[in-house]
Amino acid sequence: MSETPHSQAAFDLDRIVRETFATDVVFHEEIESTNTAALELCQADRAPNSLLVLTAQQTAGRGRGANVWWAGEGSLAFSLVLNALEFGLPQASWPQASLITGLSVCVAVESLVDQEAVALKWPNDVHLQGRKIGGVLIEVGPRSSGRLVIGIGVNVNNSLTEAPMELRERATSLIDVTGQMSDRTDVLVTILQQLEHQLSRLAHGDPALPSDWQKRCALHGRVVEVTSGIERKHGLCQGIDEEGALVLSTAEGPVRFFGGSVTRIE
Ligand code: BTN
Repeated sequence: MSETPHSQAAFDLDRIVRETFATDVVFHEEIESTNTAALELCQADRAPNSLLVLTAQQTAGRGRGANVWWAGEGSLAFSLVLNALEFGLPQASWPQASLITGLSVCVAVESLVDQEAVALKWPNDVHLQGRKIGGVLIEVGPRSSGRLVIGIGVNVNNSLTEAPMELRERATSLIDVTGQMSDRTDVLVTILQQLEHQLSRLAHGDPALPSDWQKRCALHGRVVEVTSGIERKHGLCQGIDEEGALVLSTAEGPVRFFGGSVTRIE
C-alpha cells in the first residue's frame, strides 16, 4: 500500500497501537522535534510508559551531539518513551540499548528493501548502499524515572534530491532506492515491532544477539578515527564486540569504545 503525498491522515494511529508495543500516541501534524516534545511530556509527568510521539513533519530535528537532522517532507520521525527499567533494561545496559535500536532499524529496513545492502554504522546509524538512511537519538528522561526517549528518524518518501547539498552524496531514502512511495505506517510498525523484539532479546540476555550486530557492522576492516570526550583514536576497525564496544586496532594496541562518534573513515 502506498500513502497519498501530503495526506492529513498519513498515519493509521489505531493500527500503530494495535500492532506495536506503543500504548498511546501523541500525533502532531508538524513539530520542531519529537524528542524535545517527548522529553517535555516526561518532565511534566504526562507521558505514560510506551508513549509514542509522532509527527507528519518535523521542522527542527536534533541529531547526536551538535548535529541537526534534516527531515524532508515524507520522512519518518518519532520518539518512543520507554520505561527501560520496567522493560528489564538496567542502566548498565543502556549503551547496548542504543546499539540495539540501530540494529532494529537495520533489520526493519532490510525487510522493506529485500536484497539491498543495509549496515549498522556504530553506534547506531543505519546505512543503505553505503549512505545514511536512518539515525537514532536516545536521551535519558528525568533522573531516576528509568525512562529513555528513543528518537528515530528514517528517510522514507523524502528524496535526497530535495535535501541540502551537503547531504545529497552522503544520505539516501527508501524512495531513492526502491523508486516507490512507502506507507509510513507500515515502515513505523515494522520498526517498532523490531524494536520490541530486539530490546526483549537484550533484556533476556539472548547469546545470539552479538552476532546480529557483528555481521552488520559497516566499519569492520575500515581505518577509522573515533572520538569519545577528549579521547581520539585512529586505527583499523575490528568490528563490534560481544558487549557492543567498537574495537580498534591502534599503534598502541587494541582499544574498545563503549560510546563516542566515528569522526573519520578512510
Ligand atoms: C543522528 O543521526 O545524529 C540522530 C538523528 C535522530 C533524529 C530523530 S528524528 C526523531 C527524533 N527527534 C529528533 O529531534 N531527533 C530524533
